[in-house]
Amino acid sequence: MSEYKSARCLAVKKAAEQIEDGYVVGLGSGSTIAEGIEEIAVMLKTRNLKAMFVPSSYQIELAAISHGLKLGLFAEYPELDLAIDGADQVDPQLNLIKGGGAALAREKVVDTSAKRLLIVVDERKLAARLGEGQSVPLEVLPFACQAVIRRIRKLGGKPTLREGKGKVGPIVTDNGNFIVDSDYGPIDDPHSLELQLRSIPGIVETGLFLDMAHAVYVGKRDGSVQILQRRLSSHDQ
Ligand code: 5RP
Repeated sequence: MSEYKSARCLAVKKAAEQIEDGYVVGLGSGSTIAEGIEEIAVMLKTRNLKAMFVPSSYQIELAAISHGLKLGLFAEYPELDLAIDGADQVDPQLNLIKGGGAALAREKVVDTSAKRLLIVVDERKLAARLGEGQSVPLEVLPFACQAVIRRIRKLGGKPTLREGKGKVGPIVTDNGNFIVDSDYGPIDDPHSLELQLRSIPGIVETGLFLDMAHAVYVGKRDGSVQILQRRLSSHDQ
């Protein structure tokens, strides 16, 4: 196992210690969560805990089934005790860019439905400013794609329609939409960018996850896990 992979697994294990008996837990998507599911399953067994999991993608639904986790329908459990998710980038205020796995729309729904959101990353994902070497993924209605791309260019972004791997043409999300990765360089004011993007018809969701994470578990190469806790900002209600 690569050193960063084992660092992330250790960090998922640490975050999973927050699961209590009877909890309904949202699961994000991506390799960190997929690899960490085994740790979660082992932890439940060791501590003899019963918990129900709500996955944010087909990827994690299948991974959870293969590790014997009990799944619940989000429609049945729209209020979650906890959510555990990964991220592509984390800034010092614990704002995030997500969507590298094209699951951002369901992830945002699941993550914001949880009383507490715990994010797990390795230390390479920490950045002084969001957007440093990282595009913002946008989930976009296929019908509106070209219009959205034009509007993003007007806003100073450099949009790229994400191509599928193992599939020709654009990637299609679990919701049947496209992903446009939009590069702004380092972002001075992510809240204002979020508002501008959300006002563009055809953008279903953005990969800016602002003021949402309660804590970030950072797996480090030396085998330690650093826990960053979010301080309340003026954007919190
Ligand atoms: C999927 C996501 C993932 O959480 C993010 O891309 C991180 O992925 P990984 O754990 O593979 O590094 O937002 O849409």
